[in-house]
Amino acid sequence: MTITFIGHGYVGLVTASVFADLGNTVWVIGHTKEKIEKLKRGIIPIYEPGLEEIVKKNVRAKRIFFTLDYRDAIPESSAVFIAVGTPPKENGEADLSTIFEVAKKLVPYLNGYTVIATKSTVPVGTSQRIKEIINQYKAQKADFDVASVPEFLREGQAIYDTQSPDRVVIGTDSKKAEDLLVELHEPIDGKYVLTNIETAEMIKYAANAFLATKISFANSIASLSELTGADGLKVLEAVGLDKRIGSSFLSPGAGFGGSCLPKDIKALLSIAKTSGYDFGLLKEVDKVNNQAMKGIVSKSKRLLEGSLENKTIAVLGLSFKPDTDDMRDAPSIVVINSLIRAGAMIKAYDPVAMENAGKILKGITFSKDCYQAVEDADLLIILTEWNEFRQLPLLEIKKLMRKLNIVDGRNIYDPKKVREMGFSYLGVGR
Ligand code: UGA
Repeated sequence: MTITFIGHGYVGLVTASVFADLGNTVWVIGHTKEKIEKLKRGIIPIYEPGLEEIVKKNVRAKRIFFTLDYRDAIPESSAVFIAVGTPPKENGEADLSTIFEVAKKLVPYLNGYTVIATKSTVPVGTSQRIKEIINQYKAQKADFDVASVPEFLREGQAIYDTQSPDRVVIGTDSKKAEDLLVELHEPIDGKYVLTNIETAEMIKYAANAFLATKISFANSIASLSELTGADGLKVLEAVGLDKRIGSSFLSPGAGFGGSCLPKDIKALLSIAKTSGYDFGLLKEVDKVNNQAMKGIVSKSKRLLEGSLENKTIAVLGLSFKPDTDDMRDAPSIVVINSLIRAGAMIKAYDPVAMENAGKILKGITFSKDCYQAVEDADLLIILTEWNEFRQLPLLEIKKLMRKLNIVDGRNIYDPKKVREMGFSYLGVGR
């Protein structure tokens, strides 16, 4: 099948390359000449394990094509997936202007029956709005249907998630569109949820909101455990062993970040407000997440006897999670800015996110490796659980640091072992 993706962010580029790899002819439309030229050579604009290989392979096989021009791609496509960004506005509401803009732009090139599906996370009602826009701008009767096919991939394991999803959700009010989308997804195993557009749109928000709720619940249990002397990690491990609950997304720590969970809970809160529903639970999820980030700062103060003034703090890990260079809404931004406001000097290291971090974090020193970061530091904070931090030679680190303090914002070290080495150690929930 020939299909088009508009947008080459995580969702667009990953999904496009997976469909190309399955044998389809896939067009990817972008709007920056420089990025499109690089993509044509298989150079990708984001860090995602395995993505460059799969893009290069399919560029060579002439199954994936990149263009700035709608006329190259849309006329021959049976399905067009809109995968552009929906950043939050000041009030938390998703900004849909780019979605509507590309919907308007593709209209003149529609040729034969086409399914226009949203991949971006969009509020309920957006796909219907796209339908209205297309009907409004079409010169003659265009033969099309709209659909919502939300994506559930996680950054860092995006290719695996796209190739082997837990479920494929296809929302459309047209049987013809549903059949076409089921045929396209056929080689992908997973449970198929075939439903109407509004339900599909809501599924995506509900899933992300529930994941965020699990994390904030874990962070609340962690805080309470610290106050009561319970081992919060054991509590959550045992709770997660109940199959009805499940063990994933129950890791307490420095809070959740990224381009999805923080934005999507705010957008869902905005949808709820507009719909007249007070989603108090979700407001608390957001509040607990902010407390989780602030908790790292309080713990730092505790270890440094109440003051961060003129203290040197080594921060390991800046990206919002491992295996990505994505800094969007990373907890490190909130934590580091609070530390700086309290008078600390920051030396930071991240294996891949420093370039992006440099655009956001000002007044900090970036180090070439962990060793340079911890040199003369009064405290070491772990904010992202990159594998290479898990087995740091702490005996060597000990020789380099001025004071032996660790705040482990991702619980990657064994408190007993670290304390035996002479460090003062605080994790989250333990
Ligand atoms: C999230 C969802 O997991 C995907 O299913 C969804 O497709 C995606 O958003 C999206 O909407 O596009 P992602 O943002 O890539 O994926 O990252 P997650 O793996 O969900 O992690 C989000 C944040 O939660 C990270 O900062 C991570 O450190 C934190 N987290 C995760 C915890 O603090 N504790 C946990 O137990 C799990």
